[in-house]
Amino acid sequence: MKGIERLSFYTSRYYIDLKTLAAARGIDPDKYLVGLGQEKMSVAPPDEDVVTLAATSAKQALEGINREDIGMLLVATESGIDQSKALGIWVHHLLGLPKNARVVELKQACYAGCAGLQLGLSYLETHPNKKVLVIATDIARYGLNSPGEPTQGCAAASFILSTSAKLVAFEKEHGIFTSHVMDFWRPNYSETAFVDGKFSTKIYLEALEECWNSYKEASNRTFADHAKFCYHLPFVRMALKAHERLAKLAEGEFDIAQVSDSFTYSRSVGNSYTASLFIGLASLLETSQEDLANKRIGFFSYGSGCVAEFFSGCVLPGYKAHLKADLHAQILHDRQALSLAEYEEFFNFRLPEDGSTFFCSPYNTKAFRLRGIDKHERLYEPTCC
Ligand code: COA
Repeated sequence: MKGIERLSFYTSRYYIDLKTLAAARGIDPDKYLVGLGQEKMSVAPPDEDVVTLAATSAKQALEGINREDIGMLLVATESGIDQSKALGIWVHHLLGLPKNARVVELKQACYAGCAGLQLGLSYLETHPNKKVLVIATDIARYGLNSPGEPTQGCAAASFILSTSAKLVAFEKEHGIFTSHVMDFWRPNYSETAFVDGKFSTKIYLEALEECWNSYKEASNRTFADHAKFCYHLPFVRMALKAHERLAKLAEGEFDIAQVSDSFTYSRSVGNSYTASLFIGLASLLETSQEDLANKRIGFFSYGSGCVAEFFSGCVLPGYKAHLKADLHAQILHDRQALSLAEYEEFFNFRLPEDGSTFFCSPYNTKAFRLRGIDKHERLYEPTCC
């Protein structure tokens, strides 16, 4: 059975409460809490970056997995740290993955994690005895005082794909939509994204319709054939609107319970771009009170620019024994709240770009930290505990 054998995520140990942000920006907090559906937003300290987020989540996902079985490591990100070297090589080094593993970085905005999933499943067709480690890692940055500010966040989700899936087995039908649109992009010279926010929400919904229609044609499935749905989650309200739209289009019966458990984690992590769909899946499997075994999930991935995909998978019997619910609950619970000044200080931090040596002050990170930079080379180290 091809699919996800293990799934884990990690987010920064710091967050800002969106009520704090709303008060500072002179905004009614209900705009964030109700209008966007978000409560908290993870913020990375100076010594946490996409590599440490990725390596920590992958270390968690690899527990109980023989690392020698990993034949390929795919890292999806749109907050990459290098134009040439794949982010996954640092992760490969930090985790001691096999020397004969193929490592590559994938990019297509928030869609790249889904691309990693589909490419990994294809690889398993020809390498059924191998496993694929897919990591989606991102730090969402729109800028202080920008409309996108309350929809920032950061996290990495890692999953092991194999022919001995334990959590979700994927079906082969899918619906894809690609179109050249400028709704969100980040040129190489910019630290923050350029975004036409309202336009991006419109395209997201249009892409969903296109993808559903192709998926329906390929699979002959109806809305009612899916017990649950996981959407790309830039913010919770976006996914809720998407689900309402899909129910209408597909003439299905809308029920909030079809999506609500997938929102729980993202509501307090914020946007994690490529990782958000998989954090939504972890949230659904781990926080749902229902037994989801043998239930079909419909997935929708959207990456601005844009590429989108609708696909499906079925939850496997016995899945509960392979979840990391306690670990994830602890990660979210143990985070420290930041004041507005601390959040802005973290946001404004930049590593030197002139080749000078700089060592980061130690903040609270989990398994790894960014030690600093020397002659343009980022230096990483495991944390002591
Ligand atoms: N109480 C409750 N709801 C409120 C409110 C209040 N006091 N004030 C505003 N709202 C609602 C609005 O009615 C709106 O709901 P609607 O979408 O149903 O109309 C929602 O909150 C957002 O308000 P809006 O004025 O549209 O927000 P904005 O112009 O500041 O920006 C985004 C919203 C999403 C466009 C912006 O955060 C953004 O650009 N984000 C990044 C891009 C992104 O995430 N795109 C998603 C697709 S990938």
